[in-house]
Amino acid sequence: MSEINDPTVVGHRTPRIDGEDKLTGRATYTVDWHATGMLYGYPVSATIAHGTLEALELDEARAMPGVVDILHHRHFPRLHRSPNSMKHGDQVSEVRLPFEDERIYYHGQYIALVVAETFEQARAAAFCVRARYRHEDDAKPGLLASGAEGETVGHYSRGDPDTAFASAEVTHDATYSIAAESHVPLEPHVTLAQWRDGEQRLIVHESTQGVFYERNALARIFDMPVERVEVISHYIGSGFGNKLFMWPHAVATVAAARMTGRPVKTVLPRQQDMMNTGHRPASCQRIRLAAERDGQLMAIHHDSTSETSLIDRHVDGCGGATPSAYDCANVATRQRLLAVNHGTPCPMRAPGEVSGIFALECAIDELALKLDMDPLALRLRNYADHDPQRDLPWSSKQLDVCLKSAAERFGWAARDSRIGAMREGDEIIGYGMASATWFAGRQHCEARVEIRADGSLLAACGTQDIGTGTYTIVAQTVAELTGVPVASIDVRLGETSLPAGPLSGGSMTTATVLPAVAAATRDALDALKEVAIGPGSHFAGYKRASLEVKEGALIAEEKRCGFAEILARHRLGSVSGQGSAAPGGERREYSFRSFGAHFVEVRWDPGISRLRVARVVSSIDVGRAVNPLAARNQVEGAITMGIGMGLLERLEYDPRDARMINANLADYRMPVHADMPEVDVELLDYPDFRFNEFGARGIGEIGLTGIAPAIANAVYHATGKRIRDLPITIEALLD
Ligand code: MOS
Repeated sequence: MSEINDPTVVGHRTPRIDGEDKLTGRATYTVDWHATGMLYGYPVSATIAHGTLEALELDEARAMPGVVDILHHRHFPRLHRSPNSMKHGDQVSEVRLPFEDERIYYHGQYIALVVAETFEQARAAAFCVRARYRHEDDAKPGLLASGAEGETVGHYSRGDPDTAFASAEVTHDATYSIAAESHVPLEPHVTLAQWRDGEQRLIVHESTQGVFYERNALARIFDMPVERVEVISHYIGSGFGNKLFMWPHAVATVAAARMTGRPVKTVLPRQQDMMNTGHRPASCQRIRLAAERDGQLMAIHHDSTSETSLIDRHVDGCGGATPSAYDCANVATRQRLLAVNHGTPCPMRAPGEVSGIFALECAIDELALKLDMDPLALRLRNYADHDPQRDLPWSSKQLDVCLKSAAERFGWAARDSRIGAMREGDEIIGYGMASATWFAGRQHCEARVEIRADGSLLAACGTQDIGTGTYTIVAQTVAELTGVPVASIDVRLGETSLPAGPLSGGSMTTATVLPAVAAATRDALDALKEVAIGPGSHFAGYKRASLEVKEGALIAEEKRCGFAEILARHRLGSVSGQGSAAPGGERREYSFRSFGAHFVEVRWDPGISRLRVARVVSSIDVGRAVNPLAARNQVEGAITMGIGMGLLERLEYDPRDARMINANLADYRMPVHADMPEVDVELLDYPDFRFNEFGARGIGEIGLTGIAPAIANAVYHATGKRIRDLPITIEALLD
């Protein structure tokens, strides 16, 4: 593997190549696609959370203007379930097919899909569908309301944490909880389904983080050869995990298109987007820590329960980061799962670990207080300079640099550790900090690069850009290796007809896609060189290896010839290169993680009961940031999301009947501009060449880990109130 040591484009701040199209509205999001003769679907949701659908009264809705069909349990094709296999690429978010039986498992579950000539007609008729239910009053209301433990689905242990805990000098034992949260992507879920050639071919536009997964799942569900199913997702208004895998609205829409013989588009209204397309499940975690007087950690117990629905088993593994977080000989984690009458949860940005790190990093802060140690010093005292879980060296770990650098920029040393001792005017100032970490993974990827006679280049890969800047980093990669400016590189993504690309998930896209694009670029350059050294060509008689590539030209000795000129002499429209890349054996030799540190200042004004985050200083170690402009943007977005998690966001379910109370943007509180603090993000630059030639590990999720605990720790410092339940509400501080 050739390391790219002094790149000129990769690693440099690069404005998004799709920025202008997005700004001017030229970028086609799924909702922007219109098909001839297109109908609109509008789902009807159950108004109970637990019971049976006894009857649907459809006469009124059917008589409404423009209504073409209404799909429901008794009027729906027999379809197959998707095998739901991650390995075989047909995972779905909810295995149960729409309208599969008459049971109601959660509030909002689809009971019908109205199909009409216009969106307004479909919506109007949907509100006229009447349902009669047999309501059952023993709904499972949710983990936080019930306090039930659930069944064990996973555990880890090393050493003897029980004995270590029993004999330790200082211990901490507390329970932390996190409310369910909604992803709230700016763009709700949308599906446009078109059958062509007499039901021989299916074309689906979907706002998805994984076009290939949706294609494969649709092929299984509709019993189609995968080659005849195409899924397209050119622009996505973010996903955060709830667009990783297909939801039932897409299946219902594809079925509706087949039943009506016309294209059908379904745009989920915000309420259904929140009820029916997943959420971060609520979790409850007990952390037990034991330490020596000098701060050496002796034991960590991390017991978690997360919720799932009654129809799927989504595990939000909270303890994932714990075994490798600290240098501690005795560690045990246990994950439990509790099925409740809520919609099926799904991954949400740094799934599981972001919840687990909240509990662990709050507990570390509480332990530091008991030890009368600075929480930063306690973290450095127990620094894991190799991975204690896998007993392997880290590929590159600069957490200590992150902690020290962020502390310095924040002014941590000036902190008066006494509770409520720092004041300014009416406000009490609190300082808090926490570590951040997220795994670094890679997947298999293929790509194609074309060098074209008009002087432009094309890079193509089936992965999609969910708003994180994938178009731009692909162009940067090609630019880096060819010397052609980013502006002359076209990038095509988000189609299953393109070379197989990965899911946009797990912060793995950058590290996965770039090596494949680089391989394809080199292959295309080789193809061009073959042409260039051929008889009658510019470099006839030269050896391929003697040709250098610089600024869009081939060079040998004094001779220089532009790509387009070489192609023109042979009347070639283009040459093309293929490339693929996959992780190798490096995972057996090293552990790969990204790291970070967040320092937070909160201000509590007791006179008017106002709590706000005033300042966040973060240092992030993700190897090399391929595009620091977009990378910083990811961390800033994650910090915003973390403020929501810490102070505002909570999906509320009625404890009596498990109905979702606040599935709308008026009642579900999220940070707005007025909530935003001063944010200072530093991206360290320690390229991780053990991971890939670009040294890049990925950045989408790590920024969210550690924000909520840093806030909670700061709130304690300001108020003396240790709030272990997220979100931290004003009410909790008034108690
Ligand atoms: Mo992320 S939760 O893998 O979209």
